[in-house]
Amino acid sequence: MKRLIVALVAMLVVSLCYADELPKTANIKCGPWVVGVSENEMTIVWTSTSRCMGWVEVAPDDGSSFYAEERPRFYEDLMGRHVISDVHHVRLTNLKPGTVYRYRLFQQCIDDSGHSPIPLSRVTASDVYSQRPFAVRTLNKGKEEISFTMINDIHGRDSIMNALTKDIRANNPDFVVFNGDMASFMGSIADIEKDFMIRASKNFSPNFPLVYVRGNHEARGPGYCEFLNLFPTSTGTPSQMFFHGPAAFLVLDCGEDKPDSDIEYGGTAAYDAYREQMAQWLKQAVASEEFKSAPVKIVLMHIPFENNAGWWGNNELKRLLLPILNEADVDIMLSGHNHGYSFRKEGSMKGVEFPILVNSNNDRVDVKVNKKEIKLNVLDATGKLLHEHVVKIE
Ligand SMILES: [Fe+2]
Repeated sequence: MKRLIVALVAMLVVSLCYADELPKTANIKCGPWVVGVSENEMTIVWTSTSRCMGWVEVAPDDGSSFYAEERPRFYEDLMGRHVISDVHHVRLTNLKPGTVYRYRLFQQCIDDSGHSPIPLSRVTASDVYSQRPFAVRTLNKGKEEISFTMINDIHGRDSIMNALTKDIRANNPDFVVFNGDMASFMGSIADIEKDFMIRASKNFSPNFPLVYVRGNHEARGPGYCEFLNLFPTSTGTPSQMFFHGPAAFLVLDCGEDKPDSDIEYGGTAAYDAYREQMAQWLKQAVASEEFKSAPVKIVLMHIPFENNAGWWGNNELKRLLLPILNEADVDIMLSGHNHGYSFRKEGSMKGVEFPILVNSNNDRVDVKVNKKEIKLNVLDATGKLLHEHVVKIE
């Protein structure tokens, strides 16, 4: 009996040592999703089960097999090296406007603990044989009518997230907007995945570009600094500008809603200075020829301007950003934050020279835009049309 126990222990030790030496294989953990899309570029983001090197192969959507030829590879490079990480952001470049690209994700674990990196495992890839490859379309300034869908204030509620996004593939919008507060606070990357990105990955994100407007709740929690890691922008802040069809889009970060000194922020808040910097960026953005020449101008900001004196953050946004936006010929602002629907017509709010649609936390807004008008349909989680608005472009 004693010999048997010794033999079993020896076998266990050998098997554990062997297991430790087995090559590690990384797989997709969550994603992919597509951010920072323009007419010519986009960033593919995904997380992997292990730290690894990730790359993307791209093929045209021409009906050919992905295996018909060697496809161009794109890596994430930093200071001359392919990045090894469990969060991957691969920028695809030299793309054509309004064009569908198929893509495939690859991963390989690398032992980079010593001075010579050693490939550890077989390469894994997303399936392009038994499943359709991921595919996504670039934006196109020449498109006459564009469409997008917007949700906000999900606060990690998977059932409502699923109900509002399950038909995105069927509805086929040009992109999807998260207008803030998708989670109540930013925990670990695993928490962020669980709160909304696993559902987004299942329902649409490999195939439809994502525009993420940061809300005040994404400014909370230890994972707040993961926002740009998971949803990178070309500006290095959540505020950005992009163009599609006849429209210019301004994505504006809002910061927090209470004074920086509020006990809720524990002395960590510095949003007053941050909003001042954002106003400087906005002044430059709206002064650009590309913005000024766009026939339609749409602002996406989580916290709406209010008619009466509001909370500190709201008042500061009004003081710093509203004069710039009033001068910029804005056609509409789309917001969330209030957990209730409202439509403030142009001229109905003192000092605000454009309409504002505030979407509730339980509905989605489907938007169509051409040179003449912006059509906004607010639908509930069952797809029932609740409100309809048409904003004429003057
Ligand atoms: Fe909010």
